[in-house]
Amino acid sequence: MAETSDKTTHFGFQTVPEDEKASRVQGVFNSVASKYDIMNDVMSAGIHRVWKDAMMDWLAPRPGQRLLDVAGGTGDISFRFLKRAGHGHATVLDLTEPMLVEGRKRAEAAQMADSLDWVVGDAMALPFPDNTFDVYSISFGIRNVTRPQDALNEAFRVLRPGGRLMVLEFSQLPNPAMQKLYDLYSFNVIPRMGQLIANDRDSYQYLVESIRRFPDQETFLGMVRQAGFGNAKYRNLTMGIAALHSGWKL
Ligand SMILES: C[S@@+](CC[C@H](N)C(=O)[O-])C[C@H]1O[C@@H](n2cnc3c(N)ncnc32)[C@H](O)[C@@H]1O
Repeated sequence: MAETSDKTTHFGFQTVPEDEKASRVQGVFNSVASKYDIMNDVMSAGIHRVWKDAMMDWLAPRPGQRLLDVAGGTGDISFRFLKRAGHGHATVLDLTEPMLVEGRKRAEAAQMADSLDWVVGDAMALPFPDNTFDVYSISFGIRNVTRPQDALNEAFRVLRPGGRLMVLEFSQLPNPAMQKLYDLYSFNVIPRMGQLIANDRDSYQYLVESIRRFPDQETFLGMVRQAGFGNAKYRNLTMGIAALHSGWKL
C-alpha cells in the first residue's frame, strides 16, 4: 500500500494534505494553460511584462549562459532571457505538461526551438546533476510549490559555483493602506474576471488566495539565505505587489 503523509499545507486559504497540493496546483494550470498568456496580459493590464523586463535588467543575461527556468510554464522568462543573451540555452521545467505544450508552440512560431528544452518535473526534486546551470529562474512559480524551501535548496544544488538565482513572485505591500486597497481589488475583481473571461472562477480565486499566503519580502529573503545563497537581496516592484529576489552560489 502506498504511504501517505499526515502533514498538511495550504492551497490558497484551504488546508489540504501535503501530498495533495501538487495535483491540485496541476489542476489549476491544466485548466488555464491554453488561455494563460492572454489572461496574464488582461489580469495584470500588461504589468507582468514590465516586471519580467525588470527581472531581465537585474539578471543581465550574457551570451552562452545556460538557464534553468523552473515552473517556466509557457516559457515567457526563457524567451526573454535568450533574446537578451543573444545566444544561449534554456531548459524550461514545469509540473504541468499542457503549459509546456503551449510554450513549445510559441518556440516553434518564433523559430527558437533549437535553443530550448522542455522538461516535465517538480521544482522540489530536479532531474539534473549538481552544478549544471549558470542561472536559475522561477517566475510566479514558487508560490505554488508545496515546500518552497526544498525548491530553493534544489536551486542551490543544480547551480554551478558562481551561478545566480532569480525569483519573481507576488509579494506583500509594506504600506497597510495600499495593501488593503490591493486586497479589495484582487479578491473582488480577479475571480470575477476569471469567471467572465475564462469561465474559471476557482482558478483565479486560488491565484489571489495563494498570493496572500506567500511570505513577505524579508521572510522570503531569509529562506533564500537558508538555502545557502550569498549576496542575497530583493527589489520591490510596483510598491511591493511583486518582488525580485536575487542570490549567488558563492
Ligand atoms: C503562474 S505560472 C508561471 C509561468 C511562467 N513562469 C510565467 O512567469 O509566466 C506557474 C507555473 O508553476 C508550475 N508549477 C507549480 N508547482 C510546480 C512545481 N512543484 N514544480 C514545477 N512547476 C510547478 C505550474 O504548473 C505553472 O505552470
